[in-house]
Amino acid sequence: MTKIALSEMFVDDEIKQAALDVLTSGRYIKGPRVKAFEDKFSKFIGAQYGIATSSGTTALLTAYMALGLKAGDEVIVPSHTFIATATPFIFLGAKPVFIDIDPVTYTMDPDEVKNKITPKTKAIVPVHIYGHSVDLQPILELATEFGLSVVEDSCQAHGATYQNQNIGDIGDIAIFSYFPSKNMTVAGDGGMVVTNNPELADKMNILRNHGRRNPSTSELLGLNFRMSELHAAIGMVQLKHLPEWTEKRRKAAENYNKIFAESGSSLVDEHIVLPVERPWAKHVYHLYVIRVLNGKRDSLKQYLQEQDIASGIHYPKALHEQPCIIDHLKDKYNETIDNSTLPHTEQAVKEILSLPMYPNLSEEDITSVVNAIETFFKE
Ligand SMILES: Cc1ncc(COP(=O)(O)O)c(C=O)c1O
Repeated sequence: MTKIALSEMFVDDEIKQAALDVLTSGRYIKGPRVKAFEDKFSKFIGAQYGIATSSGTTALLTAYMALGLKAGDEVIVPSHTFIATATPFIFLGAKPVFIDIDPVTYTMDPDEVKNKITPKTKAIVPVHIYGHSVDLQPILELATEFGLSVVEDSCQAHGATYQNQNIGDIGDIAIFSYFPSKNMTVAGDGGMVVTNNPELADKMNILRNHGRRNPSTSELLGLNFRMSELHAAIGMVQLKHLPEWTEKRRKAAENYNKIFAESGSSLVDEHIVLPVERPWAKHVYHLYVIRVLNGKRDSLKQYLQEQDIASGIHYPKALHEQPCIIDHLKDKYNETIDNSTLPHTEQAVKEILSLPMYPNLSEEDITSVVNAIETFFKE
């Protein structure tokens, strides 16, 4: 059997030509392509402003800097996410306050948020993990009631919607990543901040460029988080394909669901649990994540590897278990985390398994993955 990868890159002649055009132009930064990509991506989302950055991580840092997060501030964030959701505000000295997940969608549980708000809370960071939106309405209501900022970590959710509204056009600021395995990439690292707030947009625009509006004066304490022209040119081409790729990912997920359902009644629910799309969400399946029950996740992963089928764990350690975060809370805030407050996160970390997912994943390959999982549980 040929190897089935977890994700697949897309490079065509148009992308090669776009890269070549930049190389021969001699203009590598601060040029027309970055501006065009910012305009095109923000328009795609429906937001007024787009600010391109060197990665999703630096986009998050730019946003947290613009909000003025600092030591003593508290930020409400899920523990079940990629570490870069939180490390940028931790660098600024702020304190993460972890929220458990809804065990069905793996996204931040809005019911938990209110109990965690204190006079020090400055922001809430919902993460649309795997491409499924957080239930944002109750979070937005709390943010309005308590005067908090909402930064949507949308790094895995290009093209996703919540109640028919585009992810990225809902909270105060939204962040996207173009890391190579994401639903669209810039063939390297890259990120984007989008917002409808003109003051925040202006601040973020200069923060990512040494805090400068003109070459001589740094108004704000900024750094260099700029995107290059090369990446922006590739992003422009990739963005054209995104709607079609989203539909193909959704079709692949539908095929997984159908073939798993046909595979025999005992597999689903007795051994594995399939991902769910809530009625208010349009899932873009950055990842197709199943749960593997009864402590079998790691042995199934190993078995799939032996069959040349790639799989992944996103993520093997929750944020509250990361040594750097434990140290930050102890050193700066003299606090330890009570793990018993995050039961759904702790359970998910032991059971989640990401199966191959990319737009051109064939029905034949999906059938091979499902058959392999069925065989594993039969043996
Ligand atoms: C949820 C989430 N947040 C933040 C990031 C950071 O993005 P990047 O890798 O582009 O820095 C990623 C992607 O890796 C992510 O998936």
